[in-house]
This record gives sequence, C-alpha cells and structure tokens, in this order.
Amino acid sequence: MCSKTKLFPGQIPELAKCSVLMRDRSRVEDTIYAMQRAGAGRLQVISDFDMTLTRFAHNGKRVPTTHNILDHRLLIDEDCSKKIRELLNTYYPIEIDAGRTAEDKLPLMVEWWTQVHELLIQQRIRKELLAQAVKESSAMLREGYKVFFDRLTEQQVPLLIFSAGVGDVLEEVIRQNNVFHPNVHIISNYMDFDQTGVLRAFKGQLIHTFNKREGALSHASGLRVLQGRPNVLLLGDSLGDLTMADGVSEHQNILTIGFLNDQMDERKELYVKSFDVVLVKDETMEVPNAILKYITSSTDNKLDA
Ligand code: TMP
Ligand code: MG
Repeated sequence: MCSKTKLFPGQIPELAKCSVLMRDRSRVEDTIYAMQRAGAGRLQVISDFDMTLTRFAHNGKRVPTTHNILDHRLLIDEDCSKKIRELLNTYYPIEIDAGRTAEDKLPLMVEWWTQVHELLIQQRIRKELLAQAVKESSAMLREGYKVFFDRLTEQQVPLLIFSAGVGDVLEEVIRQNNVFHPNVHIISNYMDFDQTGVLRAFKGQLIHTFNKREGALSHASGLRVLQGRPNVLLLGDSLGDLTMADGVSEHQNILTIGFLNDQMDERKELYVKSFDVVLVKDETMEVPNAILKYITSSTDNKLDA
C-alpha cells in the first residue's frame, strides 16, 4: 500500500504514486514551493541523458545508450561489437554495484570508457553515417519527453544535458525527436573527426559517470545562460549524477530526482538517502513534468493576467 501525499492536494497528485519514494516529503514540498514562488526566470534544469531522458527498457528489451547506438554494422565491425559488449558486461555491473563506493569505481570507469573510445577510434567511424545509425537504432526517449522539452522552451528555462555518453549521438537522438531546441545546452564526450570526416579522437577531458563534478566545475559553471538561476531541478539515474549541479554558484534550492531503473531492491535504500525524489521503475517523465508544471505555473498566471 502507498500513502497519499497531504500537501498540494490536487496540485501534484503524481507525487502520491506508489513508484515515488521520498526520504523527506515535507522538504520536497517546501523546495518545490520555494521554486514556484521564485518562478521560471530563476530556474535551470540539469539532466543526465542515458537512462534518464532515454528509457531504460521497452517491451522487456534494453534501450541502447548513446555508446550502444554506435553498435551498428555501418560503423563498427563484428569483432569490435563483441569487445564493446564484453566490456559492458564486465563494467556495467560495477557501475551500479551498491556495495562499492564511487571512489572505488572511478578508476574502473576510466578503464571502461578509455577502452571503448579506443576501439571506436580504431574503427574509423564516419561522421556522415551517424544519423542513419541513430535512425535505425531502437533509441527511445522517455514517454512524455516532448512535454518536458517543450515546456522548458516555452518558459525559456535552460536545460543543461550533462552526459557521459557520446555527444554527437546524443544530439542526433534529440534532433530526430524534434526537441533540440535553442535552450538546450550539452556537456558530453564529443567525437573529433579529421577533414575527411573520419573519427580520430575524442575531444577534451573524458567524462564518465563518476567525474561529473569536475565537468560541472570546469564547464557548466562558465555557461552564461545558467547565471542568475539559483534554483535547480536535477535529473539522473546514477549516484554520480548528483554532482552535476556542483558548478552552480550561489544556489538556493536544488531538487534532485533519481530514476531507479535496475537493481531496485539492492539500491533502493541508497537512492532514497541520496536523491530527494526516487522514481522506481518508472519509464515516463510524468513526475518531472508535473513538478515542472507546478514550478512554472506562476509564470502561466502572469502570462494569463
Ligand atoms: P550518461 O551520463 O548519459 O548516463 O551516459 C553514461 C552511461 O553510458 C552509463 O550509464 C554507462 C553507459 N555506457 C554504455 O552503455 N556503454 C559503454 O560502452 C560505455 C562506456 C558507457
Ligand atoms: Mg545515465
């Protein structure tokens, strides 16, 4: 049985769903209320991409991450595909292991990403083929994604997508879903192509799941569009995603929402301790959309007045 929320009767009924867990319901409600009073003009949204904005699974099958979208015969050969899958089978269980600390996982994540990127570079991937690989993949954004992206655009709220995936693939996924709006900003691992359009390296410092804090401090903090927006709605599916707002100076209210996609029983306690709102096995954007609608509702009223 799940208990019903007492506050916001009728305003955010989605928070009463059985799949929503909160360590401190009244803190969540106070934060949402404070963010609503400050309005859309003071808000920024920072979100992870793979398995946060994209679905974890669909019809019982895993939805590919941006790295896994590259597992297409147009781009890589069978041997490379096999090696990348073996690496995934070795390192993904470590990434989500509730029994290991982030410090423990960090060097192993560097190993994983470095090996995959080296394998991809060896394949001499051609830039012009990325769009087709995305089109033919089973990549899927979460149900309700359009409402999410469109609302943020309408309200002129910047959305920072902070991803340890592959930026070029990520951009193509949101472009093909018609939501690559001007308020969307991306920090990710971008491919470096030579003059003939062949992959030769990855640009900048590697981003993996457990070093997002460094990226937040070095890149996000410098983004001018995010300045003067001390209220943050943060969305992620990994504990490492919680550091994505570490570059926000003089923040006032931060509400963190965590999608718990996998290893539910093992990780539930840790997630509830770490995120303000935990969404258990929820493949939709229903709850973030409801919170966002409420926070930005004062702007609606002003526009209506
Ligand atoms: P995210 O920061 O956008 O969630 O992207 C990182 C995810 O990508 C992380 O959960 C692990 C996953 N990943 C793969 O699926 N395959 C890979 O080869 C690598 C390196 C990462
Ligand atoms: Mg993720």
